[in-house]
Amino acid sequence: MIFYFSGTGNTLYVAKKLSEKLNQPLVSIADAMKRENFVYELKTAEPIIWVFPIYSWALPKMVTEFIKKVVFNDYHSNYVTAVITCGANIGNAMTQLEQIIGKIRFSNGNLGTLNSGFTVVMPSNYMIMGDVEPPEVQSEMLLRVEQRLEVVSTKIENRVSNTFDVEKGRFPHLRTDVIGKFFNKYALDASPFWVQETCIGCEICYKVCNSGTIVMNEGKPFWNKGCVQCLACINYCPVKAIQYGKKTSQKGRYHHPDIKVEEMFRV
Ligand SMILES: Cc1cc2nc3c(=O)[nH]c(=O)nc-3n(C[C@H](O)[C@H](O)[C@H](O)COP(=O)(O)O)c2cc1C
Repeated sequence: MIFYFSGTGNTLYVAKKLSEKLNQPLVSIADAMKRENFVYELKTAEPIIWVFPIYSWALPKMVTEFIKKVVFNDYHSNYVTAVITCGANIGNAMTQLEQIIGKIRFSNGNLGTLNSGFTVVMPSNYMIMGDVEPPEVQSEMLLRVEQRLEVVSTKIENRVSNTFDVEKGRFPHLRTDVIGKFFNKYALDASPFWVQETCIGCEICYKVCNSGTIVMNEGKPFWNKGCVQCLACINYCPVKAIQYGKKTSQKGRYHHPDIKVEEMFRV
């Protein structure tokens, strides 16, 4: 069973490819959170595969909250793995995930274990600091993803254990335990989002919002509380009318080219 979270399609692309290669069903974490679907039935040899993007070298808040709430019926010490998509590296986030999973107590008395973990480097969607890559670099990165997914899916199929094939970057503890914690505590602020006059009222931002933060009022979006900074709204706006503070008007936008916007709709 593949549980995925995705803001701009990279992770959905990876989750779909793994679903095809490993013949596993897909579950959207954002939909499950919204519908409060926390109980899942597992078959005996079924793997549990967590697939999500990295946010400031840490887990997206919604992913952490979901893993803490999920309940698996018929747990048979199933194989557990994670595939984290990132623009460059994830710091110590795999260890952070291991700790969260380690606290899950299952019906048979076992504690959760993370058997393996992988990173897949993909184009960055984070233009709030820095910028997205130029299109030709994005294309090269997306080509490399195909080879990477072959390697990752074969390892998962073979149920490799104690294997953490991960881009950590330099100073992983500092990145995850200091900057990542700070981000999740203080930076999940939707108030800097604003919309220009050029907004066409298409409601795409409202439909792709993973957290139900955006409401439409007289044809324009407004950002409430609960934003997880997935940046789906700003990246999917077809007329680039959404900005975050003062710095994003000159920056690029990105979403995965092979994922249709409708696949990202949450409402
Ligand atoms: C809020 C935020 C923070 C990010 N932080 C990191 C980071 O610390 N390291 C990194 O390599 N990529 C970072 N990224 C880039 C994404 O992890 C990457 O582009 C990912 O594949 C996006 O997946 P998605 O398209 O499924 O949303 C960040 C993106 C966002 C939106």
